Amino acid sequence: MLKAVGITVGVVAVLGLIAGLITWGVLASRGPPPPDPPELIPLDWWQHCVLYQIYPRSFKDSDGDGIGDLQGIISELEHFVDAGVDAIWMSPIFKSPMVDFGYDISDFYDIHDEYGTMEDFQELLEKAHELGLKVLLDFVPNHASNESEYFIKSEARDPEYEDFLVWADGLPDPDNESNILPPSNWVSQFGGSAWEWSEKREQYYLHQFAIQQADFNFRKQAVKDEMINIMRFWLDKGADGFRVDALPYLIEADPADHGGRYPDDPLSGRTEFESHQLGYTIPLYTKDLIELYDVVCEWRDFADEYLEEYGGDTRVLFSEGYANVSMTMLYYGLGGNLNGAHFPFNFDFITDLSRDSTAPDFVYIILRWLTYMPYGGVPNWVFGNHDNNRMPTRFRDNMVDGLNSLNMLLPGVAVTYQGEEIGMKDGYVSWEDTVDVEACNRGDEDTYHLYSRDPARTPYHWNNSTSAGFSTSEDTWLPVAEDYVTLNLAQQKIDDRSHYKVYQALTQLRKEETLSHGEYDIRALSERTLFLVRSLSTHDTLVLLFNVSEDSDTIDLGRVTHLTLPATVYVASIHSARNSGAVIENSELTLQSGEALVLRAPPV
Ligand code: GLC
Ligand code: MG
Ligand code: CA
Repeated sequence: MLKAVGITVGVVAVLGLIAGLITWGVLASRGPPPPDPPELIPLDWWQHCVLYQIYPRSFKDSDGDGIGDLQGIISELEHFVDAGVDAIWMSPIFKSPMVDFGYDISDFYDIHDEYGTMEDFQELLEKAHELGLKVLLDFVPNHASNESEYFIKSEARDPEYEDFLVWADGLPDPDNESNILPPSNWVSQFGGSAWEWSEKREQYYLHQFAIQQADFNFRKQAVKDEMINIMRFWLDKGADGFRVDALPYLIEADPADHGGRYPDDPLSGRTEFESHQLGYTIPLYTKDLIELYDVVCEWRDFADEYLEEYGGDTRVLFSEGYANVSMTMLYYGLGGNLNGAHFPFNFDFITDLSRDSTAPDFVYIILRWLTYMPYGGVPNWVFGNHDNNRMPTRFRDNMVDGLNSLNMLLPGVAVTYQGEEIGMKDGYVSWEDTVDVEACNRGDEDTYHLYSRDPARTPYHWNNSTSAGFSTSEDTWLPVAEDYVTLNLAQQKIDDRSHYKVYQALTQLRKEETLSHGEYDIRALSERTLFLVRSLSTHDTLVLLFNVSEDSDTIDLGRVTHLTLPATVYVASIHSARNSGAVIENSELTLQSGEALVLRAPPV
């Protein structure tokens, strides 16, 4: 069961086949000559890129204040070239009181002072572009800081901004006349009511995230216009596009449809939760509202029009949101059209797979995306980010190379969160050192670790010097993880075999047309081992074998489609007994726990 990656490949394959048959007919008596190489339509820059997420606060500190900054990023831009990365996206770098570390923006048109200046940003763009790197910003349309002008003016009922945010009267409290209850039972993503009382305006405002992150009112045209202005501002500066934040929460139910009041979300009936806790309700009126997709399509129109007007390369929109598969796929566009985001981030490896998953689980979850994705869409694969435990922590240390291999060999865009190229694990952050608003709001000394996003945000491990080479200061905004002494980039560049060297080999391999244009086949060979085949007429076939289990497994390579033996090991996970260049001749093969092999075989 082979599936074409897109029309291009399909059409090309058919033409190739026809051409092949004609030639074969003519020359049948002398045996079939090798077919002509397929004619491949070049892809747009983003369609097969390696996209790397920078968490700016933790990437590299240039001025010794213990906080990462833009000059730090500039000083390490070569790292991306060395690693084989094509594009970077940065978590928010805009002016912010840092309640949610930049996701609470107080000025959408300025750079946060701890990170640098507008000049620094311009320099970053210029130098990145010189190196051939694309630069994406994080666009946070759902909410603004309560220190933003929007909030201050809206709270003060400045006529221009009065309805910019979602304001509502409270409800009378039947038990206490002097009390005013929130307009509905909606629960914030960070715990507690999603409504906060303003003494000044004598109304509640909505915040789907922290109290300091007030939701915009997307039913107002002026808000939508402002969002376009913000995007235009950064595109004018030279940004190549945006990662778009928290989209499922963009729009809430309209009181006009509910007798003039905000409707309560239905109760989940889950008794382990109290009314202020996430999970107490089902977010029927607060998440995945169908109207939000129209806004995404309007943004796509804007990005396309911008390209038409100013030329250059495609400005992209990659949307962020955790939702079920059907609501996720709608971000690609409505009615099967690709008129939404260029792609929605695929978080399935984070939400649906773990150290406990079997090979069939992996195959099933991967195929789910490829199956539900609208025709012609570009898939993508995310293994971690600043909101979730790190990849080797959720899976196993010995799976790092296999997971990076899957990321690089699957069709579409490979997304890397900073540190995954060297297999960085969660850092330990004590309750005293915890700064994440989600952990502080939802947890206490005993439970914070269930919610804290800090462990995935500890500073990057450059080398084994002070603060892992992240900062000259020993006092960093989050502690450096202890394993930096042995687990760091400099060491991995020296070691004969390392996660980093595997990563480099994989990004190098991605340049082959088999990976950018070939077809795929992915199946489980057993509960423990899966294969992923990439093949393209006249090109070498590339095969990933990956034992995702805790035990060794003996497999029969005769069952791997499109694989002819002998094959050569292109790259192997670092604990494998097999080296690059090793020849595999026998179809019986034993893989150790976590072992991954990328094989190269002649075209079929
Ligand atoms: C997204 C961000 C997360 C942030 C939230 C609110 O989920 O990735 O870090 O807290 O949106 O902006
Ligand atoms: Mg700094
Ligand atoms: Ca909202």
